[in-house]
Amino acid sequence: MQAPVMEGHGYYNAHSELQARSAAEADAVLERALAAVAISPGLLTIADFGCSQGRNSMRPLALMLDRLAERAGPGRDMMVVHTDLPQCDFTSLFVTLETTPNSYRRGRDHVFASVVGRTFYEQLLPADSLTFGWSAFALHWMSTLPLALAVHIWPIFATTDEARALAKVAAADWKNFLAHRARELVPGGQLVLVVGAVDADGASGLEPMMDLANGVLKALVDEGKIAADTYAAMTIPARPRTREEFRAPFQNGELPDLALEELVIGETPNAAMLRWQQTGADAAFAADIAGFFIAAFGPSLFGGDKPMRDLFVSRFTAAIEVAPAEIARPLVTATMRIARR
Ligand SMILES: C[S@@+](CC[C@H](N)C(=O)[O-])C[C@H]1O[C@@H](n2cnc3c(N)ncnc32)[C@H](O)[C@@H]1O
Repeated sequence: MQAPVMEGHGYYNAHSELQARSAAEADAVLERALAAVAISPGLLTIADFGCSQGRNSMRPLALMLDRLAERAGPGRDMMVVHTDLPQCDFTSLFVTLETTPNSYRRGRDHVFASVVGRTFYEQLLPADSLTFGWSAFALHWMSTLPLALAVHIWPIFATTDEARALAKVAAADWKNFLAHRARELVPGGQLVLVVGAVDADGASGLEPMMDLANGVLKALVDEGKIAADTYAAMTIPARPRTREEFRAPFQNGELPDLALEELVIGETPNAAMLRWQQTGADAAFAADIAGFFIAAFGPSLFGGDKPMRDLFVSRFTAAIEVAPAEIARPLVTATMRIARR
């Protein structure tokens, strides 16, 4: 499996408006967590799990830092720890931190930033050191892919046997992530997590887009432009979870130190779809969706094969433009507030 990092050289930063707009729906939950979190003496640490290139973290982190500063009083040092896989384009994150107008580093003298390049399915921070944890659109990415899907690229379309194997990994990942955070959080610390989910009908909102992408890939195989075994190995290692799956480790006593305080699963705005509905600009919508797709899923599907990626993009963009309404859907997410007892 390719490391499930985002498209590099700042591409994800430039094509992740959908994730940013959707995650903004978590602001009310974030505010409640920031009002409830215990303010311990000394350094306050915030972690951003699965930060990617950082652009989407700037606004919510500024909110977190300002609320914690209001509660801790003036002059309290705060450390932001951005974490992602070692293959992440951290250079873009560093540049974003220093140059973007809405960087949380601007005008906040007591705020420091650091980075950890290691999987969040392991412990990343010392025990009892984390005040507040944030993660957006990262926890549906799996630690490993137990198999490649036979006839599709998107785990929601897995066969029953394939789905069982994927669910097992997703359950272990979720429990591992939480168990490590339970160790890192200070008593009274809080986590706010925005994660890909499925609604009661089993839909994540991405299925029509994924089906279209899969059809384009299969057509390229039929034309001899992609080898059959290359297509057969293509599976996106991201699996949205059900409400029951999110709740499971809290209900079976596996995580006695953590309490699931809030869990909201629902549709969140798709920024590209809203703009298209206002403007009717099919070509712009197709470009937005293709950019979103490649930024998030391109490396998992195409690795470093730029000609294959570019061929797919031209066909995919054209296919969206022909029938934009078919793939215009809100994104289903889970927003959780979790407290360390
Ligand atoms: C879609 S991006 C989300 C970036 C950002 N948080 C946002 O809201 O736009 C998902 C990020 O999760 C990271 N990721 C996936 N699996 C991970 C793991 N096991 N440990 C750490 N980061 C991981 C990817 O590298 C990627 O940067």
